[in-house]
Amino acid sequence: MNERETLKINSLGHLEIGGADAVDLAKEFGTPLYVFDETHIRNMMRVYKRTIENEYDGNGQVLYASKAFSCKAVYAIANDENIGVDVVSGGEFYTALKAGFPANRIYMHGNNKLFRELEYAVENGIGNIVVDSYSEADILNGIAAQHGVKQNVLIRTNPGIEAHTHAFVQTARTDSKFGFSINDGAAEEITRHVLTKKNLVLKGYHCHIGSQIFEKQSFVLAAEKVMDFIAKMKKSLGFEAAELNIGGGFGVWYTDEDPKLKLCDYADYLKALIDAVKSKAKEHGLNKPYLLIEPGRSIVGEAGVTLYTVGAIKDIPGIKKYVAVDGGMFDNPRYALYQSKYTVILADRANEKCTERVTVAGKCCESGDLIAVDVPLPEAKIGNILAVLTTGAYNYSMASNYNRNFIPAAVLVKDGKAEYIVKPQTYEDIVRNDVIPGRLKK
Ligand code: LLP
Repeated sequence: MNERETLKINSLGHLEIGGADAVDLAKEFGTPLYVFDETHIRNMMRVYKRTIENEYDGNGQVLYASKAFSCKAVYAIANDENIGVDVVSGGEFYTALKAGFPANRIYMHGNNKLFRELEYAVENGIGNIVVDSYSEADILNGIAAQHGVKQNVLIRTNPGIEAHTHAFVQTARTDSKFGFSINDGAAEEITRHVLTKKNLVLKGYHCHIGSQIFEKQSFVLAAEKVMDFIAKMKKSLGFEAAELNIGGGFGVWYTDEDPKLKLCDYADYLKALIDAVKSKAKEHGLNKPYLLIEPGRSIVGEAGVTLYTVGAIKDIPGIKKYVAVDGGMFDNPRYALYQSKYTVILADRANEKCTERVTVAGKCCESGDLIAVDVPLPEAKIGNILAVLTTGAYNYSMASNYNRNFIPAAVLVKDGKAEYIVKPQTYEDIVRNDVIPGRLKK
């Protein structure tokens, strides 16, 4: 466990998060339950913000990549911390607006933004749209003209840096669906194109090389590559980018195969990146661009824990022991998608020695519905509270109602006090949008 003041084992031998005993939370709110530690979310937002203030004269902004965990409360926290956010759909944009988040601090991404999403974004005064195709540039220009506005945009580049992470979460390989390649001239061509658009104001460039990355060098290389490209554009087109958005991707601890980063380590990552931008600006005689970063996982990942209740236990002697819980791939599809690894503990027996290795299975009608494979645990009994750590990012946001299970509720914990930020679903919610055509009615 990557312990911190707000995530530890308490004197009762129970998991404690945000000052609250996980066993009490399970009793009060039921399981499965997503639990979020507000202090950690705020600390992570602050460490990035302060690093930009201290190392880059505050000439930049942190954008929380809200795809990692999107609900009204998290936008309210980001707003309170005075940072920006990035959204990747009309739904995320709508949620942010409903939370009272100012549209001018929102950036929108997507390789295939829909007409209605672009229109909705422009109508509501979105701060910036990161253009990722020719057709998008044309459509957006038309929408902006119709609304009589000049829309700020960035261009998403692909710097061609292969980060060492799962192929599905790499985004800057040469064959990626995202961005315009710097290497083959595509990024220069789209720059020329966007600069001809009367209702688009090209502020600069964006890149994002992938997610769950620990090598500083990958971030530094990407920043250097885009800075070189900015210099090239200044020379060849006379266009000097005012903004550089370097994306997100900083890794978090899931198991002891990952480094246990502290707040100061994240500051170091960002500082390395900032140093690269500064030295490239100097080398090329460029103004230091307004710097944006888009961390998602590192802000909410370790802030989240999922609590389950142990149900059926099946021992296949000499082969495997399954410990099934009341959740599954509908609240956490990451093992099924990426074979992701997690640390699992019994929240009510957290000090006990692990005596066996088990596979934690969900309750879905599917063999691949697993949460963690071959993980150490004390001998679990029906009714124990099982906690999966580091589930704050890409768990709730990727949840579904598969098998018509409920998407679990989420609570936000601060100083030991927990409140709903996502209420529990009911059977009525499950059928809310279902319709039986008249001809099928008996
Ligand atoms: N900016 C852009 C343009 C992105 O595509 C992403 C993540 C981020 C920022 C935030 O990256 P982070 O700091 O969270 O690494 N569902 C996958 C992760 C997909 C990440 C997609 N893009 C997972 O569960 O691992």
